Amino acid sequence: MQHKCASVVAGNPQADGTVLHSRNPANLDDVVAEVTLAGPETFVRAAEAAKNAQPEWAKIPAPVRGQVIARLGRLVEANKEALARLITREIGKPLAESLGEVQEIVDTCDFFLGEGRRLYGQTVPSEMPDKQLFTFRVPVGVTAIITAANFPAAVPSWYLVPALLCGNTVVWKPAELSAAVGQALAELAWRAGVPRNVLNLVQADGKATFEGLDKALQAGLIDKVGFTGSTEVGRQISELCGRHLQSPCLELGGKNPLVVMADANLDLAVEGALFSGFGSAGQRCTSLGTVFVQREVHDEFLSRFTQAVEEAIVGDPSQGVLYGPLIDTRYAERFEEYLKLVQAHHTVHGSTGTGRITDANPRKGFIGNPEDGVFVHPTIVDGVTKEDALYRDETFGPLVGVGTFDTFDEAVDLANGHGYGLSAAIYTTDAGNAFRFRERCRAGMVSVNNSTSGAEAHLPFGGNGLSGNGSRQSGVWVLDQFTRWQSMNWDYAGKLQKAQMDMVELPEADLAYRLED
Ligand code: UN1
Repeated sequence: MQHKCASVVAGNPQADGTVLHSRNPANLDDVVAEVTLAGPETFVRAAEAAKNAQPEWAKIPAPVRGQVIARLGRLVEANKEALARLITREIGKPLAESLGEVQEIVDTCDFFLGEGRRLYGQTVPSEMPDKQLFTFRVPVGVTAIITAANFPAAVPSWYLVPALLCGNTVVWKPAELSAAVGQALAELAWRAGVPRNVLNLVQADGKATFEGLDKALQAGLIDKVGFTGSTEVGRQISELCGRHLQSPCLELGGKNPLVVMADANLDLAVEGALFSGFGSAGQRCTSLGTVFVQREVHDEFLSRFTQAVEEAIVGDPSQGVLYGPLIDTRYAERFEEYLKLVQAHHTVHGSTGTGRITDANPRKGFIGNPEDGVFVHPTIVDGVTKEDALYRDETFGPLVGVGTFDTFDEAVDLANGHGYGLSAAIYTTDAGNAFRFRERCRAGMVSVNNSTSGAEAHLPFGGNGLSGNGSRQSGVWVLDQFTRWQSMNWDYAGKLQKAQMDMVELPEADLAYRLED
């Protein structure tokens, strides 16, 4: 089946724009969707529709909005297989991981359906008599959500679900390369009872989106931007939002380190490095960047890691492979550029070749026909040092660096020194190392004896430094992105009581008093 994707503003399909084909990266002849890309004006119209719809949506009691989220969860669950198959077909993620991705939406709905009955505020004592203080969470208003192709359904749900639950309306711009998944998830939300003017879908490219966002912000139509994507674009969005005194919710890149101490269980560390380095073809933002191994165990780790990567099955993502194709031809071209960062002092391991897998450059054990799609060899680069571009630059794709350290301090320095701060892992059997690493590591998420990937849907997700501006998604923490605190003071004294001036007198005290020795 070929999907037809277009923007849907206040429930009405928009016909403007050029047409793009979203292709199956495992089989480029398979056109998954014909996508009509919108211009900036459609984005502005969507923001207007969302603005008009917001007061009515916010008036619905939060527990009732929670029930809409509950229905969305059930509907996604009932469509789990079909949505997962669409994710695999459109962006090439192995089916097992696509099923996990859909489960992450269900988990997110399950968490937030209950939040509809909480959304707690506080009662706070006043420093004056006959006066009571309160806090309330109020929706921010209209949210613009811009998401990436690598997690085309789960990560959008991390924004959409809490934004809607909190009483905001949404303009959602999914990645063009995952337009059909975007359309499918929006359809499930509408069918679950999210009003069509409350969730507006804009299918557009980055340039038109940025222009539309700029215009909508200038017109005062957007109150919060959520963006998942590259650090470079995150910086531009952040600058734009800053001009309007807004702080966006950003989820950007990573160069996620995995530290292997000499006392670690090496088999466990290899398993973690394999999954986080090469699962999803290394295209998660939590994907492993560099493994730093304590010198005593470096050779042993490298040899076991190399063997595991050599034996891993790559190919058709509907089969039980470790990874399938890259998301798109563009990603493969960029991957070839990253390979140029390999230098003379490095050694390359992990496969029968590097770069594109083809009939002439085959991969042992490949499942399917590599020439049909965009497949690349897994690559381990040993000998990475702090001076290398491979140490600093995010290399989206199946490329993992390996470096060596002698002391724990050095390991911490290497884990932090590149400037990203999304996810970091340490493998050790010493609890002291684990806690010291947690304390000194700048990443927003730290794993002990677990890989850099695999965050659960109810823990704070987000990064620092080049990985984000400190905003956090998921769990109760994301509520601070989609609500603003409003305080209220209520004076029932029947006279004006002035804070800090009309002070209640304290009982007398003798502060010169000392106990006798
Ligand atoms: C992302 O890569 O943008 O922790 C999200 C993980 C997944 C989510 C990743 N649960 O790898």
